[in-house]
Amino acid sequence: MLKKLEAAFQDVFQTEQQPRTFLSPGRVNLIGEHTDYNGGYVFPCALSVGTYITLVPREDRQIRFYSDNFSELGILETTLDQLEYNKKHDWANYPKGVIYMFREQGHEGEKGFDAYFHGNIPNGAGLSSSASLELAMAIAWDALNGFGMDRVPMVQLCQKAENEYIGVNCGIMDQFAIGMGKQDHAILLDCDSLEYSYAPVKLDGVKLVLANTNKRRGLADSKYNERRSECEAALKDLQKVVSIENLCELTSEQFKEHQQAISDQTAKRRAKHAIDENERTIRAHQKLEDGDVVAFGELMNASHRSLRDDYEVTGEELDALVEAAWQEETVLGARMTGAGFGGCTVNLIKEEGLDEALTRIAATYKKRTGIDTEFYVVDIGEGTREITNQ
Ligand code: GLA
Repeated sequence: MLKKLEAAFQDVFQTEQQPRTFLSPGRVNLIGEHTDYNGGYVFPCALSVGTYITLVPREDRQIRFYSDNFSELGILETTLDQLEYNKKHDWANYPKGVIYMFREQGHEGEKGFDAYFHGNIPNGAGLSSSASLELAMAIAWDALNGFGMDRVPMVQLCQKAENEYIGVNCGIMDQFAIGMGKQDHAILLDCDSLEYSYAPVKLDGVKLVLANTNKRRGLADSKYNERRSECEAALKDLQKVVSIENLCELTSEQFKEHQQAISDQTAKRRAKHAIDENERTIRAHQKLEDGDVVAFGELMNASHRSLRDDYEVTGEELDALVEAAWQEETVLGARMTGAGFGGCTVNLIKEEGLDEALTRIAATYKKRTGIDTEFYVVDIGEGTREITNQ
C-alpha cells in the first residue's frame, strides 16, 4: 500500500521527493449513542479502514490537495494565507479547517505542502470519514512542523474544526475514537471529563459485522441539531429541580423522580433515551469485561429500540436492517450506529453459518426497502499514525 501511494503521489505532483504517509481510521460505536453531547459515556472503536495522506513540504506557502476519491476535482490549490472556508474547495475544506484551527491556537506553519489523499471508508456510511480526514491532516501537519501536540488536544482541535469551520455541531466521540483507537480494543470514554479506558474486544466465535443501509445521511441537514436543542430544553427544565450540568449526570432512577419537571413531552423522551443509554453503556462495558457477549448483544438491541422509539433517529431503512438481523437466531445483537437517519448498523453474529445469515438478512432488507445492503466484517484497528512499512 505504502509504495503504491508514494508512486501515485509522485505521479500526480510530478516530483521525485520522498513523501511521508499517515493513516487515520474510521470508527464504529458499539453502544452509547447520542450521549456524547449530553456528557455521557460512549463505547466506540477504530476500524482498520481509513484515510491515507501522503505528503511533502514545499519551499513556498502554496498548499495543493488531491484525493483519488474525488479525482474529478483534480488538484485543489490554496495558500497558508488563504485558509478561509471556500465552497469551491469542496472536501479539501476539512483539512484546510484543521490547519486553520492550528493557526488559531498559535501553531503557525511556514511552508505549504503537496498532499495526496486516499480513503477506503465507504462514503456516506456513517463511519466518520470526515473526522478521519481531519485527524489525518492534523497528525501530518503536526509532524511536518514539529509542533509536538499531544493527542487529546489534537482530537479536540479537530472537533473544533468540524464545529466551527465546517459548521457541524458534533460531539467529541468520532474524533476521539479515531485519534485514540487501539487495535482489538474499544474505548470507554466519559465525554464530560474525557477520562477513558480501553476494553479488549474478545468475541469467541462471534463476529462484529457492519451492514450498510446504503441510504446516505447528511449530518448537517439531518435532525441532529434539533435533537441537541431538545436535550438542552430538557436539561433547562430539570435544572429547576436538580443541580446538574449534563443530562447524563442523572441515573435512570433519578430521572424517573424528576422527569415531571420537563414540560415538553418530546423533550422528555429525548432525555430519557440519553440517560437510559448512558446506563446501558456502562453496563455493556461491564458485560464485555465479564465475557458475557449475549448480555452485551441484548443491550445493543435495547439501545436500538430506544433510538427508534424515544430518540427517533432511526428511520425506515435502519429499522428494516436491524429488524431483519433480529430475526436470525445467530444474531446476538443489532443496532444502528452513529448519528442515525441512514448509514450503518452494527451486529454481533455467530461465526457459524455467518454467510447464510447475511444472505437472509440482505434478502429480507431488500424485500422491505428495495435496497441492496453491503456487509463489512470489522477488524478493530489502531488510531491515527504514521506508516512506514505496509
Ligand atoms: C455523530 C456525531 C457524534 C455523536 C453521534 C451520535 O456521529 O458526530 O459526535 O453525537 O453522532 O452518538
